Amino acid sequence: MSSSYDLREFIERIEKLGLLRKVEGASWDLEIGAITDANAKRNKYTLLFDKIPGYPEGFRVLTGALLDSRRVSTALDLDSNLNNLELTTAIREKLRNVEKGYEKYAPVMVDNPPTMENVDKGDRIDFFKFPVPKWFHNDGGRYIGTADAVITRDPESGWVNVGTYRVMVKDSKRLAILMEASRHGRSHVEKNLDSGKPAPIALSFGHNPGLNLFSSNEVPEGMSEYNFLGAVREKPVHTFKGPVTGLPIPADSEIAVEGYITGERTDEGPLGEFMGYYAGGKMSNPVIKIEAVYYRNRPILMGTCAGKPPYDYSYYRCPIRASLIWNALEGSGVAGVKGVWCHEEGYSRAFTAVSVKQMFGGHAVMAGHIASQSRPGNVAGRYTVVVDDDIDPSNLNEVVWAMCSRNDPASGIDIVRNTMGTPLDPIAKHEEGKDLLEYTASRAIVMAVKPFEKIMKKTFPDVVKADPDTDRKVHDKWPDLFKKS
Ligand SMILES: Cc1cc2nc3c(=O)[nH]c(=O)nc-3n(C[C@H](O)[C@H](O)[C@H](O)COP(=O)(O)O)c2cc1C
Repeated sequence: MSSSYDLREFIERIEKLGLLRKVEGASWDLEIGAITDANAKRNKYTLLFDKIPGYPEGFRVLTGALLDSRRVSTALDLDSNLNNLELTTAIREKLRNVEKGYEKYAPVMVDNPPTMENVDKGDRIDFFKFPVPKWFHNDGGRYIGTADAVITRDPESGWVNVGTYRVMVKDSKRLAILMEASRHGRSHVEKNLDSGKPAPIALSFGHNPGLNLFSSNEVPEGMSEYNFLGAVREKPVHTFKGPVTGLPIPADSEIAVEGYITGERTDEGPLGEFMGYYAGGKMSNPVIKIEAVYYRNRPILMGTCAGKPPYDYSYYRCPIRASLIWNALEGSGVAGVKGVWCHEEGYSRAFTAVSVKQMFGGHAVMAGHIASQSRPGNVAGRYTVVVDDDIDPSNLNEVVWAMCSRNDPASGIDIVRNTMGTPLDPIAKHEEGKDLLEYTASRAIVMAVKPFEKIMKKTFPDVVKADPDTDRKVHDKWPDLFKKS
């Protein structure tokens, strides 16, 4: 097995970058959650918790795996010095490998993965063997699945999906899972249940976090996140064949389980959600009947928790979602796109900025609507702001300035009503018995661009700034004034 897929090697690389901290003695009961959230708001270390009270030394928890661009780049074998837009561009370039060779990057099956060092079946299955965190006091239980990879197969065509869906420990042998509307794993499960069969499912709770970059973003239907990760890293992902379900499980999985969803439901939640609230509350969701648990010696449970941004997982989806939206724009034939960024303040979903070199009247409207309604841009979306190519879409100051100076609220904001919604939205209309699939919400598309006729007539006013010669001269003459502190 290529060691570059190993979570442990990823941790070593993060340690070499000086970004790892080991924490001893923190409890699974609220303390790991509190430390993880405070860390995401301040020092941004990757945290490896050990000596967790009540658990053997070596039964560890990892959080903060993907807190910034350096860690996302490391997980993808890219240069760790790239800024946000450069990282988005680099990922987009690598995603071209998917078009060129989707099959070439299909996952490879290996034998004897370290995951099988320990195998529990029947009476030996006990999720409380692992230091599963209860992240915050309002959570409805202990969540083993937060930074997980949930593997299902389409029973008709056979394509394998890998999604990140939250998973609660119901009791020592049963798990409960939330799969929202539009989720591919949900459609695989429903197809099985509709034809009267239990739905096979495998879950990994610790693996190279590169997989999460795709398992928690909107990879197109019919395409596997394994192939996406393989294509970006230009190395197929190594997996092993789950002995119970035959599903491909990451070969570097620290803790993996296999079982079936049979149609039984249970109370699940609440869990702190990606918008920073407990809007969804307690829900009735599917039970997973577990048939086998596999884990490495000294297993590392990878986890994460939400909050008010910035939080532990608010950053990492930004560059991936931005790349997917940019590709969707290009795929729809929108020319002149110079950059896309999904802002962390909108937890990667709710505030997207697209910069465009306007070439015709309506160009900005076209780009904004397509970005907003493309699948990666649409799920739980809210605001899409289109800016000109002199504005850096990843710089919130510039984007807000463009909104405040180039947008006419009465004519330059389009509202799209009744698009896909989510019960996890704190302003959603919750009603007794309403299904996850029934939620809708609106979107705003803000044209923060120069009026096109003023570009044509060259009448848009100049931006106030020093001329380049004087600017260079004063920088050369007083370098100390301009040094980064
Ligand atoms: C930490 C984290 C937890 C998530 N939890 C859930 C969840 O419980 N249910 C869900 O449907 N989506 C959840 N998502 C969002 C999905 O991972 C995301 O929509 C992804 O695109 C789903 O994969 P799919 O498109 O293959 O279905 C979560 C994302 C993250 C980053």
